Amino acid sequence: MSIEADPPAGAATPAADGTETPAATGAPLVVAEHLTRVFGRGSTAVRAVDDVSFELRRGEITTVVGESGSGKSTLARMLLKLLPVSSGRLVFDGADVTGRTDTTAYWRQVQAVFQDPFSAFNQFFTVRRLLARSRRLLGAELTEQRMLDALEQVGLPAGDVLGRYPHQLSGGQRQRVMIARALLMRPSLLIADEATSMLDASLRATILNVLTDLRDRAGLTILFITHDIGQACYVSDQVLVLSQGRLVEAGPAERVIFDPRHDYTRKLLADVPRLHDAG
Ligand SMILES: Nc1ncnc2c1ncn2[C@@H]1O[C@H](COP(=O)(O)OP(=O)(O)OP(=O)(O)O)[C@@H](O)[C@H]1O
Ligand SMILES: [Mg+2]
Repeated sequence: MSIEADPPAGAATPAADGTETPAATGAPLVVAEHLTRVFGRGSTAVRAVDDVSFELRRGEITTVVGESGSGKSTLARMLLKLLPVSSGRLVFDGADVTGRTDTTAYWRQVQAVFQDPFSAFNQFFTVRRLLARSRRLLGAELTEQRMLDALEQVGLPAGDVLGRYPHQLSGGQRQRVMIARALLMRPSLLIADEATSMLDASLRATILNVLTDLRDRAGLTILFITHDIGQACYVSDQVLVLSQGRLVEAGPAERVIFDPRHDYTRKLLADVPRLHDAG
């Protein structure tokens, strides 16, 4: 099976004058090699993620796109070490973490936000109390100032938000609080699994802006997961297209979106009217 992939953007390429463009991003933060996850056995086995290889370059947003059931969340859970890999290798920041089990240290570097921010809230807890739960991992490092900084990083009026209860926040604000909670760890990788799927279009845009801001200002590496390839064009540097657990296309966002090479990618794009309207 062919994978429509471009050479990594960070790779030095000879320019017309013979000089080399420097590798922009250095060593990748994440290298996934032949990642595979099988659920079940024998004739009922599902290869939820099947021989998927890619790199996440530092300070870039990579979008994983694919239909429901294509294996996006399974891939995310393997990267988060919430789910062991069936086979393959995972390298994080230069170290092989495939079999690593000390997740406490790992989760300070790799944080995630999920689809439904409301489910993570206790309705009787203020934002301060929700964020304070990170004390389990952070201990005395978790100061009030660190909470304020994290809330400011996601564009919330920090002092005002700390004392609020979930019902006093909009859906978009709740999702920003969840991103702030992830940022408390000062992670180098943030995984956002359908983090915008339950928001309406304008709130979705604010979250996408938060993510691009975090990339541009804090140099955060982000894995953005969505079933809507239309969102990928707003935020991504790199796009990975999953179909039935296989990586069918991978490359720079602009190339994948405006010059898709795989029929499955074309099919996803055909379902996005906006892109055609934009010409
Ligand atoms: N714990 C599990 N046990 C058995 N099968 C599973 C399990 N988790 C996922 N699967 C199967 O693996 C495949 C991929 O599921 P996954 O949740 O990764 O897809 P997804 O791309 O995240 O879908 P969605 O867009 O609906 O979130 C599906 O066929 C799913 O039924
Ligand atoms: Mg999913």
